[in-house]
Amino acid sequence: MVRQKNERAEEVDEVKLCELDRFIEDRRDVKGVLIPALQRAQELYGYLPDSVIRHISKRLDIPFSEVAGVVTFYSFFSTVPRGRHVIRVCLGTACYVRGGQEVLAALRRELGIEVGQTTEDRLFSLEIGRCFGACGLAPVVMVDDDVHQRVKPARIRELLASYREEAHAAQEREADLITEGAAE
Ligand code: FES
Repeated sequence: MVRQKNERAEEVDEVKLCELDRFIEDRRDVKGVLIPALQRAQELYGYLPDSVIRHISKRLDIPFSEVAGVVTFYSFFSTVPRGRHVIRVCLGTACYVRGGQEVLAALRRELGIEVGQTTEDRLFSLEIGRCFGACGLAPVVMVDDDVHQRVKPARIRELLASYREEAHAAQEREADLITEGAAE
């Protein structure tokens, strides 16, 4: 079963690389293709592993240091794995006073990670924020662009479950689409 899972992961990785190559090939002569190529890679992998940055550098014939410099310059590129969903707990004054710390503790417990970390299944990353402009509805948690207001620690499990379900279904769909794309 584990072997099957590993084989499947390798297969999906290979397909991602093919997809990236196809993307680059289609735009090889377009000026400024580097950033779209990096964006596509990040979409496919969820972040930019060193090996993928090297691969792009080779395919576009741009020095690795130049590609790495672009990745570092733009904050939307990440070289460390981030979760599919980024959870940000507000610890601004209003949220702090109304239980933000307890909400954060419940998330750490449920996810089994600390702030700045990502779950092993790469579904969630946990971060903290300082006021999302919804102080009247504190404590506030953002999951990607969704704002969750008056969050209660007791409801955290339920909140995560909805994202888990959606993410698993989406991952299955993506894997199928990538596999179908590769077979064409
Ligand atoms: S302090 Fe949390 S939204 Fe303002």
